Amino acid sequence: MKVGFIGWRGMVGSVLLQRMQEENDFNGIEPVFFSTSQVGQDAPMGAGTLKDATDIAELKTLDAVVTCQGGDYTKAVHGPLREAGWQGYWIDAASSLRMVDDAVIVLDPVNRQVIDKALAAGQKDFIGGNCTVSLMLMAIGGLFRAGLVEWVSSMTYQAASGAGAPNMRELLGQMGVLEDSVADLLADPSSAILDIDKKVTEMLRSDQLPTSEFGHALAGSVLPWIDREVEDGQSREEWKGYAETNKILAAESPIPIDGICVRIGAMRCHSQALTIKLNKDLPIEEIERLIANDNDWVQLVPNFKEQTLQQLTPAAVSGTLTVPVGRVRKMKMGPQYLSAFTCGDQLLWGAAEPLRRMLQILLE
Ligand code: HSE
Repeated sequence: MKVGFIGWRGMVGSVLLQRMQEENDFNGIEPVFFSTSQVGQDAPMGAGTLKDATDIAELKTLDAVVTCQGGDYTKAVHGPLREAGWQGYWIDAASSLRMVDDAVIVLDPVNRQVIDKALAAGQKDFIGGNCTVSLMLMAIGGLFRAGLVEWVSSMTYQAASGAGAPNMRELLGQMGVLEDSVADLLADPSSAILDIDKKVTEMLRSDQLPTSEFGHALAGSVLPWIDREVEDGQSREEWKGYAETNKILAAESPIPIDGICVRIGAMRCHSQALTIKLNKDLPIEEIERLIANDNDWVQLVPNFKEQTLQQLTPAAVSGTLTVPVGRVRKMKMGPQYLSAFTCGDQLLWGAAEPLRRMLQILLE
């Protein structure tokens, strides 16, 4: 199978290549690396030279395309390539094609049957889901699959990586500037904390803080709006929760999912506080069993302080495929109201991992 890689140098693309190397995914495929800017230079892994990512004739020779290049590339190339008669598989991290009827959103531990059905029907476009949605489904897929979910409210704590690599740098830059602004006061144990706070707040509001990526202070603050508004005061990130979850699950009657998506100062793990309305009252042990046994990566964290703070944080999860879920308990609102908190690596299960697994499914 001849597979073209586009956008492999970016953040998601680099994580994808790294994961593919770790899992020996390059055995059994012939990789062809493309570029939009460095055509003709050496490709990685001794795979010849970089081909032109906009060359339809070159792309037409591929059995599959795996792109992490972004939505603009997808919009510019996917249509013309299909119009030129290309019948290969298009595997994409960008959101542009996700809600198109003929495209499948891939998250195989959760929707392998949907993927298999689409393959049998001759569908060719397989798109990775929004990171928050994929991570939520990896965490509580067991409850959806058991048909127990009436609705979900997801309040998110999203990492800087979701906004891009320059944003991760900016977050750290902001942290550094804030620390620098009070370094002398911090060095003096007798300095007044309110003086420190006053200076930090001034810096948070000043134009000396680097904000060219986020537009605002994130370090020492939170940003309760991600992406543009769609309608009725809902952001596009919030809209995806409902639209993509129900598409991934191929739900016959859509399940309401809504909440507020918030950017916080974590590097690459998105967390979510979930309120789940179940359609029946089940013992908590049964609920925990359904969550814990759903897939190989979800990890139920017992609802105790020490385990929670050790296992259920971006610091603990970053760079791993484990998706812990904890704080699982019945809420005061009634026996059908469940709380849960989950955390997952936004670049792994949130982006690269479903794509590499889709390619493996094609090779089965
Ligand atoms: N839209 C997500 C975010 C990342 O901004 O965190 C990509 O799914």
